[in-house]
Amino acid sequence: MLLPVGYSDVPAGKLAAVVTCLEMTTQALARPDPSTIDWQLRRMPNPPLAWYRSLFAYLGQEWLWSSRLEMSAERLQKILDDANVWVYALSMDGKDEGLLELDFRTAGECELAFFGLSPIARDRGTGRWLMNRALELAWQRPIQRLWVHTCTLDHPKALAFYLRSGFVAYERRVEVFDDPRAVGHVAKHAAPDVPLLAP
Ligand SMILES: CC(C)(COP(=O)(O)OP(=O)(O)OC[C@H]1O[C@@H](n2cnc3c(N)ncnc32)[C@H](O)[C@@H]1OP(=O)(O)O)[C@@H](O)C(=O)NCCC(=O)NCCS
Repeated sequence: MLLPVGYSDVPAGKLAAVVTCLEMTTQALARPDPSTIDWQLRRMPNPPLAWYRSLFAYLGQEWLWSSRLEMSAERLQKILDDANVWVYALSMDGKDEGLLELDFRTAGECELAFFGLSPIARDRGTGRWLMNRALELAWQRPIQRLWVHTCTLDHPKALAFYLRSGFVAYERRVEVFDDPRAVGHVAKHAAPDVPLLAP
C-alpha cells in the first residue's frame, strides 16, 4: 500500500522508521583492513538462546532492535539452528562486542541479517574489518546477491558505511511497529533521543 503524500500520524506506542534496502550483485572489493587487530571472530553453530538474546540486547538496545527479542524461544531457536544461518561473535578482551549474522535460507542469496558493534568496538576500523569478513563468507557460497537493510533508528553512520562498503540502495520503505519499550522487550530508558510516547 502506498503511503499518502504528506504527513501520516503514528499512534502513541508505535514507532515509524524509514528503511533502506541495499544490495550488491557481485562481491565488492575489500577495503584495506586496519593494521592492528585486537579482536577475534568465532562462528557460533547452534548458538545458545540465552547467549544470543543477551548479545542481541546488548548491541541493539541503543537502536531499539527488538525483532529477535519478541520471537518465541521455539521460533528463534529454529532459525539459529538452521544450517543456512551463520552466526558469528566478535570478541575483544574476552567479551563479545559484535554480532554478524548471515542468512542463506533463500536460495541464491544471502541477507546480512544482523551486523552490529558495541560502542567499545566501533570507530576503530572494526566495522570495515568485519564487513571484509562478511563479504568473504557470503560470497564463498554460490549467491547472486547479498543484501541488507538499515533503518533510521540504526546508528546514523550505518547507511553511509554500507554504501562505502559497496552496497547499492534499491528500495525505501516505511515500517510502523510497536515501540519495544512500550511492550517491555527493550528497557524503558533505551534510546532517549527517540522519546517514548506512551499509548
Ligand atoms: C555500522 C557500524 C558497523 C559501522 O562501524 P564503524 O565503527 O562506524 O566503522 P569502522 O569501525 O570501520 O570505523 C568507522 C570509521 O572510523 C575511522 N577509523 C578510526 N580508526 C580507524 C582505524 N584504526 N582503522 C581504520 N579506520 C579507522 C575510519 O574512517 C572508519 O571509516 P571507514 O573504515 O568506513 O572508512 C557501527 O557503527 C555499528 O555497529 N553501529 C551500531 C549497530 C548498527 O547500527 N548496525 C547497522 C544496523 S543495519
